[in-house]
Amino acid sequence: MVKILATGGAGFIGSHVVLELLNSGYEVVVFDNLSNSSRASIERVARLTNGTPEFVEGDIRDAAALDALFKAHDITAVIHLAGLKAVGESVAHPEQYYDVNVAGSTTLFNAMLRHGVKHGVFSSSATVYGEAEVMPMPETTPTGPVNPYGKTKLMIEQILTDITSIGPGWRSMILRYFNPVGAHKSGQIGEDPLGFPDNLFPFIAQVATGRRAVLNIFGDDYPTPDGTAIRDYIHVMDLARGHVLAIDYLLSDKAVDNETPVVNLGTGKGSSVKEVHAAWEAACGFDIPAQIAPRRAGDVTIYCADAAKAKEMLGWEAEFDLAKMCEDHWRWQKGNPEGYR
Ligand code: NAD
Ligand code: UD1
Repeated sequence: MVKILATGGAGFIGSHVVLELLNSGYEVVVFDNLSNSSRASIERVARLTNGTPEFVEGDIRDAAALDALFKAHDITAVIHLAGLKAVGESVAHPEQYYDVNVAGSTTLFNAMLRHGVKHGVFSSSATVYGEAEVMPMPETTPTGPVNPYGKTKLMIEQILTDITSIGPGWRSMILRYFNPVGAHKSGQIGEDPLGFPDNLFPFIAQVATGRRAVLNIFGDDYPTPDGTAIRDYIHVMDLARGHVLAIDYLLSDKAVDNETPVVNLGTGKGSSVKEVHAAWEAACGFDIPAQIAPRRAGDVTIYCADAAKAKEMLGWEAEFDLAKMCEDHWRWQKGNPEGYR
């Protein structure tokens, strides 16, 4: 059996990736400091699958803990999801983002070098593109992140690419996610934001359960058909399947030593805030209060993936539509109004 290390595997995306890896016959070790997640997600993943993920609590900045981990487990590849991801917080505390995301990743890659682990998949973000001119965006779109979070993601991409280019037998992949939403169809695992939810889906979900009063639609004067901003929302289970295919690819003879392909994971189809709101009302079967509010600083009009490379290289294509994303997200939120707590 091939064993995969998932850093950050207890988190929102990680828990779905771990589930999909186990269902695909991989063994999985999760390494997570639980700073933004709960052990309960891993326990639930174990109940939903045949395999059992192993869990090691630890921090990616702790070289000794990583050495112990790599000594105890025969790891073939690492999916590196651990990190901090809130844009606003990254502006307020850039030092934490450079420490956890950049220094943490360098510590992890150094441990991989010391222990001969030569395959890495990195969770990057479409946010590295900044303000793009061409829509949909292929991977060749110039990068230009506009906040510390996005800058750390781009730096980690560059570090991994450089290490992979010289490490004997190394092959890596960078996955740039668009807007991951939804939950596993069981409603047992999902996104569990601590504190105030900044992102659209978790916010609407909390309005739907009555925890928040009203959805603020940030701006209806964008140059789009209904005036609200457009994003490429992607179901987290489609995203998770993309990771399994990325690992399959790196372990196959299709992958090329010392190369780190960059692959967008998005549906290629954008939805406006008003369309998302309407899809949520349809999924819930009741009205969800909403009002127009001023634009949010730093937002772009439209962000949409050109996902042709994922299809060509990995044979991956998104399967689930906006209705399914809302339906699954709602099942999780309704069954777990306080998340894992
Ligand atoms: P998440 O916060 O749910 O998961 C991140 C996990 O990393 C958490 O379980 C957290 O406890 C863990 N972690 C944080 N710092 C750590 C450290 N120092 N050592 C060990 N573990 C640590 O977030 P997510 O939405 O699942 O995102 C996973 C990855 O995907 C992140 O790297 C994020 O930047 C990236 N990403 C997320 C999105 C999104 O919208 N959710 C979009 C693009 C990229
Ligand atoms: C956010 C992150 C981005 C990350 C992406 C992944 C910010 C500024 N950017 O992008 O780095 O890669 O998530 O998921 O946080 N909206 C409302 N009302 C709300 C919340 C959001 O109208 O209460 C609107 C936003 O203005 C935006 C759209 O909904 O137009 C989507 O917002 P969000 O879910 O925060 O995602 P992004 O802004 O695309």
